[in-house]
Amino acid sequence: MHRTYAISLGMLLFLATPLALAKPPQHDAIPGSALDATAPPTTRQALAAAKPVTARHAMVVTAQHLATHVGVNILKEGGNAVDAAVAVGYALAVVHPCCGNIGGGGFMVVHLKDGKNLFLDFREKAPLAATTDMYQDKNGKVVKARSTKSYLGVGVPGTVMGLNAALKKYGTMSLAQVIDPAIQLARKGYILQQGDVNILHERTKTFAESPKVASIFLKDGKPLQVGDRLVQPQLAHSLELIRDHGTNAFYHGAIAKQLVKSSQAHGGILSMQDLADYTVKWDKPVTCKYRGYTIVSAAPPSSGGVTMCEIVGILRPYPLRKWGYGSVKAVHYFIEAERRAFADRNTYLGDPAFVHNPIAKLLSAKHAAKMRSTIQPDKATPSSEISGSLGPAEGMHTTHFSIVDAHGNAVSVTYTLNYLFGIGKIAGNTGIFLNNEMDDFTSKPGVPNSFGLVQGKINQIEPGKRPLSSMSPSLVLNRQGKLFMVTGSPGGSTIISTTLESMINVIDFGMNAQQAVDAPRLHMQWLPDVTMVEPGLLTKATKAKLEAMGHHFRDIRSWGADEAILRNPKTGLLEGANDRRRPSGLAAGY
Ligand code: DON
Repeated sequence: MHRTYAISLGMLLFLATPLALAKPPQHDAIPGSALDATAPPTTRQALAAAKPVTARHAMVVTAQHLATHVGVNILKEGGNAVDAAVAVGYALAVVHPCCGNIGGGGFMVVHLKDGKNLFLDFREKAPLAATTDMYQDKNGKVVKARSTKSYLGVGVPGTVMGLNAALKKYGTMSLAQVIDPAIQLARKGYILQQGDVNILHERTKTFAESPKVASIFLKDGKPLQVGDRLVQPQLAHSLELIRDHGTNAFYHGAIAKQLVKSSQAHGGILSMQDLADYTVKWDKPVTCKYRGYTIVSAAPPSSGGVTMCEIVGILRPYPLRKWGYGSVKAVHYFIEAERRAFADRNTYLGDPAFVHNPIAKLLSAKHAAKMRSTIQPDKATPSSEISGSLGPAEGMHTTHFSIVDAHGNAVSVTYTLNYLFGIGKIAGNTGIFLNNEMDDFTSKPGVPNSFGLVQGKINQIEPGKRPLSSMSPSLVLNRQGKLFMVTGSPGGSTIISTTLESMINVIDFGMNAQQAVDAPRLHMQWLPDVTMVEPGLLTKATKAKLEAMGHHFRDIRSWGADEAILRNPKTGLLEGANDRRRPSGLAAGY
C-alpha cells in the first residue's frame, strides 16, 4: 500500500535546511521531582499535592474500589498477578457494569517474573453472518445507531474465554476461587457510592427502554442513588454457571443458548456457531525502546502499541524534559508526532488475521526520521497535508486495571463493552450486558461515525474479523528488563494519548505515578485537524503561541481513567495511582 505526502512549499524550504536535533536524552526517571515551571501555576499546585498510594510488595489499581479489594485479597491469599487479574476482571463485570464485562472483550499484557512478556487477545469477533455493508440501508446510507444500539452491533464476546485462558496458563488458583468474590458481589449486592451513581445516571434513559434492565438498574423507574444496594441475581447465576462449567457454559452451554436466543429475538445475527468458533490468541506484545526503557504493549488488532511506539520513535531525539511539561515546544512536537502516527494507524492497521500490518516498517528508525523530516519547528502541519486513508471509530467507555504481585509478575488489562453498558441491553436472563464493539469497524468508507471519525477500508467488516481497537494495556521495563510501570486507560482513540502521556510524564517530566495520571492531557488523531486539550495543560500565553503556529484546540473537560503502578527506583516501593477522573476507583496494596 502506498501513501503519498502532499508537501507544501514551506515544508520543502524547511526540508532543505539541516535538522539540528539534540542528542537523545538518556536518564533515569526519578518519580516525584519538581514539575517544570512551564505548567500553569494552578496545575503545578494541584499536582504538588498528588501523592500515590505506596506499598512494598504488591499493588492493585482498578476503576472501582471493591474490585481493587478483590484483587488485593487474592494476592494476600497467595494468588499471583494473573489470579488477581482474573478475579478483578470478573468482579468489575459486577461492580463496574458500564465497562467491566463478560459480554465484551479486551487485551491483557503480562510480564512474568522470569522476564517473559505476553500478549493475550480476547477482542470480540464479527459474527459469521456479518457483512461489510450491514450498517447501510438499501441506498448505501449508514443507518444511525444500528451499530451502537441494536443487536446487530454485538460482536462475539471474548472476555470469559480470555480470562479463563489466562488463569489456566499462568494462574495458580482454581476458577471457583477467583470467580467467587464476583458471585458474592452480584448475589448479595453492594452499596453504591457517588462515583458509581455518576456513571449509572448517564444511562437512565437507556435503562428505562428495557424492562429487564430497568428492573435491576432503576428503582421504581427512578435512578439509583448513593447508599442504594445494587443486586444482580441473574448475573450471579451466569457467573455460577461459568464457575461450574467453565468456558463451555458461555460458548456452548446455557449462557450461549440465551445469548443466541435473545439476539435472534431482537433482529441480531449471533449464532451458536459464532460462539463455538470463538478463539482467543496468545501473541507477542509490541515493544520499543524509549530513553533506555522498554515499552511493552498491545499488538494488532489493537493499534495501541504500534501507535505509541511510532510516536516515541518520532519524539526520541527531542529534549522534552528540557522543554518542560506544557511548554510550547513539547506540546508542538507531541502533536506533530501524534498527527503522523495516527495517520499511519488509520491507514495501515487492522486485524492481523485478515490484513497485513507493516509493523517493522512503521517502527523503523528510517520511518521515524522520515516523519520527523516533515515536522516544522515553528508551524503546525495541516492534517490535510498528511494523506492516508481515514480512521476507525471509537466509543467512549471502557476500563483498565493494573496489578503487580510480590513475585515480580505484572498484569495490565483493558477490556470493554465499547459504549457505557454496550448496546444497553441484557441478553435473556443472563444479567449480561452486550457489547457494541462492531461499531469499531468501518460502517462505510468515507462516512463519519457518531464521533466524527471517518473510517477506512482496511478495517471493514468481515465474518470472524476483529475490529481495530485503541486499547493499550501497557508495561514499561527499566534498563535491566525489570518492571518499572504498568499503565492503561479507557477513552476510545484518546486511550493511546492518555497511556503514552502517563509514561512520558514519568520518564520525561519526572512526575510520580499520581501526578502522571492526574496531569491534564492532550490528544491529536490526525483527523479532525484539532487537538483536544484538558484545562490546565496550557497557559493562555502558551496556547496563543501554539495557535499562532497554526494549531487548533478544543477544550475537553476530561477524559480517560489511567490506572497506573510504578516501581520507584529510589525507594523500591510500588506507587499506585487511581485517576482523579474516576472517583470510584482505588489503588491499594500491601
Ligand atoms: O477498542 C476500542 O478502541 C474501543 N472500543 C474502546 C472504547 C473506549 O475506550 C471507550 N472508553 N471510554
